[in-house]
Amino acid sequence: MNDPKKGYSYCMSKNILVSVAWPYASGSRHLGHIGGAYLPADIFARYHRTVGNKVLMVSGSDVHGTPITVRADAEGVQPIDIVNKYHAEFLGYWEKLGISWDNYTTTMTDTHIEVVHDVFNNLLEKGLIDKQKSLQAYDAGEDRFLPDRYVEGVCPHCEYKEARGDQCDKCSKTLDPEELINPISKLSGNKAEFKETEHFFLKLTSLENELGNWLDQQEGWRPHVINWAKSFVKDGLQDRAITRDLDWGIKIPVDDLGPGKKIYVWFEAVIGYLSASKEWASLQGDSDSWKEWWENPEAESYYFIGKDNVPFHAVIWPSILLGYKGLNLPTNVPANQYILIKGEKASASRGVGKSLDDYLDEWNPDALRYALASVLPEQADSEISEQEMIRRNNEELVAAWGNLVQRVFAQINNNFDKLGEISDSEEIDTKLLFGFEEAYKNIGNLIEKVELKSALQESMRCVSQVNAYLNETEPWKIIKDDTKRAGRVLYTSLQAIDSCANLLYPFMPTTSENVRNAIPKTTECKWGVNEIKRGVELGQLELLFKKFD
Ligand code: MF3
Ligand code: ZN
Repeated sequence: MNDPKKGYSYCMSKNILVSVAWPYASGSRHLGHIGGAYLPADIFARYHRTVGNKVLMVSGSDVHGTPITVRADAEGVQPIDIVNKYHAEFLGYWEKLGISWDNYTTTMTDTHIEVVHDVFNNLLEKGLIDKQKSLQAYDAGEDRFLPDRYVEGVCPHCEYKEARGDQCDKCSKTLDPEELINPISKLSGNKAEFKETEHFFLKLTSLENELGNWLDQQEGWRPHVINWAKSFVKDGLQDRAITRDLDWGIKIPVDDLGPGKKIYVWFEAVIGYLSASKEWASLQGDSDSWKEWWENPEAESYYFIGKDNVPFHAVIWPSILLGYKGLNLPTNVPANQYILIKGEKASASRGVGKSLDDYLDEWNPDALRYALASVLPEQADSEISEQEMIRRNNEELVAAWGNLVQRVFAQINNNFDKLGEISDSEEIDTKLLFGFEEAYKNIGNLIEKVELKSALQESMRCVSQVNAYLNETEPWKIIKDDTKRAGRVLYTSLQAIDSCANLLYPFMPTTSENVRNAIPKTTECKWGVNEIKRGVELGQLELLFKKFD
């Protein structure tokens, strides 16, 4: 299993679907979003590609829904203008941050609409979607039905005062507007009334048992995710309206409800994971290849989302899949909690934290990825501060990692004839390298369990060990008396540095690649210890990280 030439885990060849929450194209992203979903997904995907798995990482801009229409109304433009602006902005972030999508698309492609219609019709035929009359929030002054997000009131579960008609941000429960206490129209501030209207409903009541059984079988999920989902199901599921009185949205494939109704954004957006996979397959010129990730029972799928999206990914989407049949359900939904700045949820628009553009102007993207990955809110909300980010950059990246690389490169370039003659290994050398063999296994396991913060800590512990090894062996002191021994120490350090770069690659891809590429090797293992080629020059290496004042 452990081929020394190729290293640990290279025998893997699993299909891994990396599904990442579709950001509403309605406003700029901030650090919280990046640390919440996109960065962890990218770290996970890069690792799995490295060890030889077949990764399909998909997402796209969520272009429907009231966040977009609210914004368009506020700016006096059309929804499509808002969508185009933010979709383009998001593409820029992914490029700069190195988020390695296989397909990043939108929910307005023909493929998406087709797939949504297929799922809708499939469930309709099976009686898992039906028509029900219900009361819908209505603003009498404006003579308009109110989408869920246009209604605000007191949460019936936790009494939070600003709960929205779709969800309470405090306790995360999904809501229907009529459950709110003292509902108010956000359009006008009028009291919201309720008027009868007919809609299609997803029959969660019919899927409840199957869903409950499926949730009971899941292992290795984060406690906050699985416990939340199970208790939600235990409280009893209700059928949920999946159409709305709206103009902006995907057309309902059957037209027996009359005009002015569209498919509800949440019902269609989650189907995006499937449609983006199908679109990817077509773009590859092999239109059935998506099936390897969706129909092959050995394939695994991971959904990277923020905790406010748990209901839709751990309950609604699995229900849709159970009803549709034949497609893989999530293997895991490693939802993150929130990144907080001085105790508040990061949000550049509310003035909590700087904008992502500011950070991208000032920071090396790898250093930014590092600072965020160090505080991923995997189990609980976690606090980030600029002071702490700068400290990590200066102490951990510049002083510990960057200096180690520069120091060893400089020693070799200045004092050695390309490591031409070196002595045999001593115990301390083999011990260091053996530690790396262990680290590959251990860190690989942590990443596979989506414990990315610990995986990064362990990788940085390897960096410290190389520094400690150099402090103990002091090659710069023995160089005069025992050049060959000093050569062996630097050779070993170079092997270790190459391995540190391998381990850090999922977190900091660009700088790690630069380090790896500058080290001449006779083996090219990306997840295992390599043999260094002697007698050739080291490659050029620019300064990896800059110190902040
Ligand atoms: N657009 C939603 C949000 O930003 C997330 C949608 S995830 C999806 O909260 F899977 F439903 F698309
Ligand atoms: Zn609540």
